[in-house]
Amino acid sequence: MNKNTGVTVTLKASFTLDGKIATASGNSKWITGKAARRKAHELRHENDAVLVGINTVLADDPELTVRGIEEGRSPIRIVLDSKARIPEQSRVFQNDGVPVIIITGNQAPSRNWPELAELRILTAPTGTPDVLWVLSEIWKLGLKSLLIEGGSLIHASFLKSNCVDQLELFLAPKIIGGQDSLSWCGDLNVGTVNEASQLEISSITELGVDLLISAKLK
Ligand SMILES: NC(=O)c1ccc[n+]([C@@H]2O[C@H](COP(=O)([O-])OP(=O)(O)OC[C@H]3O[C@@H](n4cnc5c(N)ncnc54)[C@H](OP(=O)(O)O)[C@@H]3O)[C@@H](O)[C@H]2O)c1
Repeated sequence: MNKNTGVTVTLKASFTLDGKIATASGNSKWITGKAARRKAHELRHENDAVLVGINTVLADDPELTVRGIEEGRSPIRIVLDSKARIPEQSRVFQNDGVPVIIITGNQAPSRNWPELAELRILTAPTGTPDVLWVLSEIWKLGLKSLLIEGGSLIHASFLKSNCVDQLELFLAPKIIGGQDSLSWCGDLNVGTVNEASQLEISSITELGVDLLISAKLK
């Protein structure tokens, strides 16, 4: 449990050996194989809520549901979307009875939202929702655990806020290469290697051809 917010935060990312989560054109399906993707569904099942950034919704249109797990329970879906850009037909809005929370900034234009009983719009007090504010709202809703599922900018924001309790990093034996393909974590303002975030690895598990590295920040 995070001492600042009460919410236990797990960051999950799937990336290639060169740290990429997508190609330069934004394609990211599929970085890892079946066994790793099944484990990722287990992580969703274990968490009260799952959160992504708006760019991930625009690029991948993920469902963010639990699939392929017996009696799997889908977590509440949360999207950080400062400018309320999320398309109405996005798959997160599927009518499966699971609450969906869109968190906008306080400058977001007014718009029509899908007519969905379980949809909640939260407006942050800032232009871009601040991670610690988001976590305090999540806590107020009674949610105790949160899975962060990308993308690169969202990972960086949560790591910079020092509120990530656990990292689940799926590593695929592939290389995408390129300067324009996204790494799993955006800018952390690291100037020298000495300033790099240090991880403590608790386990490395083989999942088919992929590896799952479970770690905490030191
Ligand atoms: N392989 C994988 O595991 C994986 C997983 C997920 C995504 N991806 C890939 O990652 C790419 C998208 O990543 P991305 O880095 O471009 O975008 P992202 O992290 O998905 O979304 C970032 C956007 O979220 C909004 N946002 C709102 N509050 C924020 C906050 N506090 N901190 C950061 N962002 C906040 C901002 O847009 P506004 O200002 O408009 O709100 C920001 O530009 C896609 O290509 C996708 O395919 C890969």
